[in-house]
Amino acid sequence: MSFVLCITGASGAVYGYRLLEVLSEDSELDVVVSSAGAIVLKEELGKKVEDLKGEFPQVRFWNEKNLTSPVASGSRLVKYRGVVVAPCSMSTLGAVANGVNNNLIHRVCEVALKERVKLVMLVREMPYSRVHIENMLKATDAGAVIMPASPGFYHRPETLEEIIDFVVGKVLDQLGVEHTLFKRWGGGR
Ligand SMILES: Cc1cc2nc3c(=O)[nH]c(=O)nc-3n(C[C@H](O)[C@H](O)[C@H](O)COP(=O)(O)O)c2cc1C
Repeated sequence: MSFVLCITGASGAVYGYRLLEVLSEDSELDVVVSSAGAIVLKEELGKKVEDLKGEFPQVRFWNEKNLTSPVASGSRLVKYRGVVVAPCSMSTLGAVANGVNNNLIHRVCEVALKERVKLVMLVREMPYSRVHIENMLKATDAGAVIMPASPGFYHRPETLEEIIDFVVGKVLDQLGVEHTLFKRWGGGR
């Protein structure tokens, strides 16, 4: 199974980092971090993209400006199981919802939509403007799965890690990846 993980400049870099940990375990993974994503990563986790490259040597990292990356092409991406943008800024959501293509992340999302590859966008902003909501609707109509980074609490989390894993587990469910990151309603993982 192959996935592309795009980390943009919304708050919640930890979701991208946790997905990087989990998806790189058993899957082939390509990662694109936007320049704003790199700023938030440093701000929230104290990590640079270079640190991630060192921690995950098996992962292919692509610069957001590199439009010649294989994952920018439908002929390659159609072989992938999914693309996930986590966290997804309103700016990237807006670009994807409106067919604007300014960097590799926008292009990968556009290609996922046209090739009918699963696209999951873990959006984060608070509150949402009408523009944000309209863009979520447009992206949904185009085939994306919009997931707000809103954890549930019915599994009674006791740690921050459990709250993060709830959200990450819901993303993995959408990507069709088996996991035991949270207890499901009715028992079991
Ligand atoms: C610390 C920090 C937190 C931010 N949080 C959010 C956020 O939660 N949601 C959002 O849409 N933008 C947020 N932004 C603004 C985005 O980073 C900005 O719109 C950027 O242009 C997004 O670019 P990208 O989509 O290419 O990553 C934040 C910026 C900073 C510096």
